[in-house]
Amino acid sequence: MLNKGITKKSVVTTIPKDFASLHNLQPIILLKPKPEPENGKSVLKALQQRKTIREISDKKLSLQVLSNLLWAACGVNRKKGPFGIPGRTAATASNSQEIDLYVALEEGTYFYNPIQHKLVPVFAGDLRALAIGKGQMNFGDKAPVRLIYIADVNKLANTSGYQEPGLQNPEIQKSYYYVDTGLIAGNVYLFAASQGLASWFHNCNKPGLTAKLKLRADQRILFGHTIGYPVKK
Ligand SMILES: Cc1cc2nc3c(=O)[nH]c(=O)nc-3n(C[C@H](O)[C@H](O)[C@H](O)COP(=O)(O)O)c2cc1C
Repeated sequence: MLNKGITKKSVVTTIPKDFASLHNLQPIILLKPKPEPENGKSVLKALQQRKTIREISDKKLSLQVLSNLLWAACGVNRKKGPFGIPGRTAATASNSQEIDLYVALEEGTYFYNPIQHKLVPVFAGDLRALAIGKGQMNFGDKAPVRLIYIADVNKLANTSGYQEPGLQNPEIQKSYYYVDTGLIAGNVYLFAASQGLASWFHNCNKPGLTAKLKLRADQRILFGHTIGYPVKK
């Protein structure tokens, strides 16, 4: 059974196919993650150093660091995961993988496609100021990357995983998508601490982003997460 107003037919990709050619913004092919020990601190050391840092410089992340960050957040770590689909670095209810990560960079905002490990452009222009809550815009405003966590409720309601009745209940759906977001955010915090990056999970301008990204009603913007290098003191 599907949620009221949600049909199998409406389970569509959010990405307009001709977007890149219209706006001259090309997909970004990400690099393979490099999990060698020299590329980061141990998990225990990273946990020891994990914290929120809001003073963030404008120094950009290299393509390798951005690639590693997104893979650590919720990339594919097993081709064969639960229920016949790939497994990811963050657990999700029924392996429904309903949290989409959008990545706001200076030149545009991209959808992170974890299967292809690629950033697909969805908006040309700088949305970083909307990916933070009103009243907090003076912090981290030059940071190179703002992640946007967006729950796709269709993916929960139509998971290929175990069809527990709660997956059709809006309140239970909500509990799942908030937990699943937290698991990804935890990965991001840990990765940032392991690399000496600044990481700051926060609210965002939901109406503003929903309008700019032309989201469907069943896509819920939840939080933003700013990443960059700490301001040197
Ligand atoms: C659900 C959630 C929402 C948050 N929202 C904001 C926010 O809107 N603005 C902000 O500055 N920090 C926000 N934070 C960061 C917390 O203030 C921060 O994690 C907390 O003070 C503990 O600090 P620490 O991360 O350094 O341990 C949020 C954290 C969580 C988990």
